[in-house]
Amino acid sequence: MNNDFKDILLNRKSVKVYDEDVKISHEEMLEMLDETVTAPSAVNLQPWRFVVAESKEAKDAILEISTNVNQVSSSAAVVVFFGDLQPQANLNKIYDEALATGKMPKEVYDRQVGFIKPFYDGFSEQWMREVVKIDTSLAAMQFMLVVREHGYDTNAMTGYEADKMAEKMGLDPKRYVPVMMISVGKAKEAGYDSVRMPAKDITEFK
Ligand SMILES: Cc1cc2nc3c(=O)[nH]c(=O)nc-3n(C[C@H](O)[C@H](O)[C@H](O)COP(=O)(O)O)c2cc1C
Repeated sequence: MNNDFKDILLNRKSVKVYDEDVKISHEEMLEMLDETVTAPSAVNLQPWRFVVAESKEAKDAILEISTNVNQVSSSAAVVVFFGDLQPQANLNKIYDEALATGKMPKEVYDRQVGFIKPFYDGFSEQWMREVVKIDTSLAAMQFMLVVREHGYDTNAMTGYEADKMAEKMGLDPKRYVPVMMISVGKAKEAGYDSVRMPAKDITEFK
């Protein structure tokens, strides 16, 4: 385990080729995803859903709609991050537990539960897509850093036919929108160094 945050942050590179002998146990993958879901989300509705494609069948299904061949085929797994377009379905599950465990006072519970469902029910589909993609992207970034904490590498990818991903992964395409897929594994070839525009060139103080 790497606990050096600067190293995790500054030395994350997109890795394209992985050591095919390195697999990740379900226990460790779930541990990484449990750390991932500490990410924040709008009104804490946590609209992210994950499909871990690790079998040949699941990876082949991705390869039918993606050109990212090396990352998909050599990685230990490809985690597909989906956004749930009906996140309010979990409102009670989340908020009832917050109340029961004393993490949320009753008056806050009543106020939040009373306003969130009608608020979310009123969203257009396009707006809902934006909301769940923002939340799920935060989880995806967090996942890439958590994975490095565990000594593995990643590559975020949107190079696939997005309209086919849910069906390929066995999810309802009307409910789940793909946000990105992330290959995970032990680097065989190091990622390239890449350039960043400095903050002073892209920041305005007003
Ligand atoms: C949303 C997103 C989509 C990306 N899609 C792809 C992709 O389809 N294929 C690929 O090889 N890299 C993809 N990348 C990786 C970027 O090219 C890479 O992050 C960028 O060049 C910076 O390099 P670094 O990740 O090594 O810092 C994607 C990255 C992000 C954040």
